[in-house]
Amino acid sequence: MKKTILLFSILSLVIFLTNCDSTTEKKKGIPTATTDTSSQLKNPLEAGQEMAMKTKAVLGKYLVTAIQDKGTEGAIEFCSTRAIQITDSMSKVLGSRLKRVAVRNRNPLNLASANELSYIQEINASLARNEKPKPQLKETTEIYTAYYPILTEQLCLQCHGDIKADIKPATLSTINRLYPGDKATGYKLNELRGIWVVEMKKGK
Ligand code: HEC
Repeated sequence: MKKTILLFSILSLVIFLTNCDSTTEKKKGIPTATTDTSSQLKNPLEAGQEMAMKTKAVLGKYLVTAIQDKGTEGAIEFCSTRAIQITDSMSKVLGSRLKRVAVRNRNPLNLASANELSYIQEINASLARNEKPKPQLKETTEIYTAYYPILTEQLCLQCHGDIKADIKPATLSTINRLYPGDKATGYKLNELRGIWVVEMKKGK
């Protein structure tokens, strides 16, 4: 059993590293909105979405591996030190600033600003009307800022769901120890958990 887990971790690492390499190789092809030819075909909203989805995939791979290796409580510790680090290093690789924020947040560093809050409120309103949540693009003279919804999946509820029905007591006590002011529980399936914010520099 232990061997299988070890093998799985090594495999995931290899897959991750391979992915990382190909991301680096393709770096030139990743649009920073206006600098390369593909960006003329791809609008900033699509470019930002692609970057958010790549970062999501990397975070997700690490999360699943951490849960398998260390259990849910161990994975919380892992997320508490690595989630922002991983997101920041993806920002470097992709050449745009990416972050995840929320109003009912876990890490105080991930609290939504006023602009982000207004997007979150719009998405919650559209979900309440049973509409598909839409991304949004804002721009200044220098940057595009794109916003994308992050909805909960089944996997998320063991750390973000109902504190009685979904989260195990040991997990909850780890959450409370590491995040005394945690607001990121009580989420249901397919609820807005937070948003991706992607800042893309316009061409020089
Ligand atoms: C193993 C427990 C665990 C699971 C499973 C988990 N998360 Fe988290 N999540 C955390 C922790 C811990 C943080 C705080 C990370 C930090 O300190 O940077 C966090 C932070 C976040 C944030 C950033 C905003 C905030 O509140 O700090 C978002 C968004 C988020 N999680 C979404 C999800 C989604 C979507 C899923 C399911 C795909 C998920 N999480 C699954 C533990 C978990």
